[in-house]
Amino acid sequence: MKVIVVGATGTLGKAVAEDLNKRHEVVEVGFSGGDVQVDITDLSSIRAMYEEIGAFDALVSATGDVHFGPLEDITQEQWKLGLNNKLMGQINLVMEGAKRVNDNGSFTLTSGIISKDPIRYGAAATTVCSAIEGFAASAALELPRGIRINVVSPTILEESVELFGAAFAGFEPVPAAKAALAFSKSVDGARSGQTFEVKGHT
Ligand SMILES: NC(=O)c1ccc[n+]([C@@H]2O[C@H](COP(=O)([O-])OP(=O)(O)OC[C@H]3O[C@@H](n4cnc5c(N)ncnc54)[C@H](OP(=O)(O)O)[C@@H]3O)[C@@H](O)[C@H]2O)c1
Repeated sequence: MKVIVVGATGTLGKAVAEDLNKRHEVVEVGFSGGDVQVDITDLSSIRAMYEEIGAFDALVSATGDVHFGPLEDITQEQWKLGLNNKLMGQINLVMEGAKRVNDNGSFTLTSGIISKDPIRYGAAATTVCSAIEGFAASAALELPRGIRINVVSPTILEESVELFGAAFAGFEPVPAAKAALAFSKSVDGARSGQTFEVKGHT
């Protein structure tokens, strides 16, 4: 299959692309790096990415920015960061991609474990992650031509502990390579409308 991985230059996306590469032709997409560039906050950039890549069988999104900070201090702009980037960016990858993907193709989006297991200072992220999972569950009912959609919800990655592990005290980190398996399960498997959680024992 020809699989587009958006965010393929990132911590999570690199591992996802590596696992998919074992079986598929992967097009690595980044914001500034990768084979192809896209800005998921810009609809015209998403359309240009699909034009450049042409026919494809699956898209994985392993990207999305969102603000973390104390609830009372979250500004309108900070709310909009997650809504415009991680939420609508990924939704628009599906909305535009569904017109172009091959029959029986698939979309796999990324949320995060705090959709179900919130942390302090994570209100904007939990809101967005829950919405992504809701979108996929509902969109799966209506996508035409055998197109599937799933979400992967990883816990904190071992590779990211140094960056923001302090906010996830008590959560057992998992290697990005383990999270990557859930993306492969979505792409290579048959299920749709699911959220695949990837977590340690806690
Ligand atoms: N890391 C974790 O522990 C963890 C855990 C659970 C969930 N997640 C979620 O997984 C996703 C990826 O996280 P990560 O840690 O791998 O992030 P990351 O290392 O910062 O990588 C981000 C990736 O997205 C690309 N990108 C940035 N802005 C973009 C834009 N506007 N449009 C398109 N692509 C853009 C980057 O491209 P360039 O390299 O070219 O800039 C890079 O490939 C996020 O949604 C995050 O919330 C991460």
